[in-house]
Amino acid sequence: EEPILVPEEEVQLLIQTLEKASTSLISTNKLIKYEGFWYPASDESLKNILMFQRHFCARDSDLILASHPKTGTTWLKSLLFATVNRNNYLKHDNPLFKNHPHELVYRLENNIYDEVHNHYPRPHHLNELPSPRLFNSHLPYSSLPESISTTKCRILYICRNPLDTLVSLYYFVLNIIKKKKGGEDFQPPSLEDFFEDFYDGRAIHGPYFDNVVEYWKLSLEQPQKVFFMKYEDLKKDPESHVKKLAEFVGVPFTMEEEREGVIQEIIELCSIKKLKELEVNKNGAINKIFDKESYFRKGNVGDGIHYFTPNMVERMNKLTQQKLQGTGLSI
Ligand code: A3P
Repeated sequence: EEPILVPEEEVQLLIQTLEKASTSLISTNKLIKYEGFWYPASDESLKNILMFQRHFCARDSDLILASHPKTGTTWLKSLLFATVNRNNYLKHDNPLFKNHPHELVYRLENNIYDEVHNHYPRPHHLNELPSPRLFNSHLPYSSLPESISTTKCRILYICRNPLDTLVSLYYFVLNIIKKKKGGEDFQPPSLEDFFEDFYDGRAIHGPYFDNVVEYWKLSLEQPQKVFFMKYEDLKKDPESHVKKLAEFVGVPFTMEEEREGVIQEIIELCSIKKLKELEVNKNGAINKIFDKESYFRKGNVGDGIHYFTPNMVERMNKLTQQKLQGTGLSI
């Protein structure tokens, strides 16, 4: 029996005090604003965040993949796993063939502290995981537990252009709602309405730009702590990114590995085409909510603008400029 780490009553009391909102996609189950960001208004979800914040002890060797949802987390998980563990398995025996990337890199505020869908390691098992431990989180840097900033653990961050991110998020959440509500008379919420929610920062894990800018600033202040990537750059030149990523996490590719094409093999293995075809990623679910296949959709760059009117694209471009002004970042 594990101790109850954050009492239910405390979570419920806290929820009562938080700002709430409904959105086009989540009208019945409202969102709550916690530490400046929106999350599902469920006891479960908030409790998991609190558990993570209070009980996670980072190690110097931990590698934490941070991102806003739908910016390339799954891709980066597979690349990171394959790079770090490249000498631990025979090629045909890579765990990526038998496990979804989300089963190899655990999500800190969800998989681990999630008491409801738990087939993942429990908090006390975290200490038994071999180093380097690979994790991911969708929380903003300001909400991460203190030990992440006080230890030498490293953060890899990925961002993506806002329109592609929002279209990806829309279809991902739509899938979940359809599964829940089902039926032929189901009227899906519109992408236009979701655009407005996302634009206003009122979507799960939003405001999007706040998440990006926090990590971007940190990556400038502490380049040894945060490695900042863009989905679009990774797509354009995966080789140089995987090389840099390996250097950043302390396992650079040797000349011999480069000559033998090890980097190319990793990129191939982690391509959306390849991962999508694997049986393990086609069937089943990560937990009660997320289907494994829903993490692999199109994987294109710049597709987002085709879903919106020129006026909407223009508005989003302006907002992006405004939010990133003075930061030196463009996405
Ligand atoms: P699209 O919905 O635009 O296709 P996340 O992993 O952060 O949830 O992001 C999911 C997005 O990344 C989806 O984008 C998905 O198709 C894309 N994706 C998943 N695996 C990928 C891979 N191996 N390479 C490139 N893109 C990938």
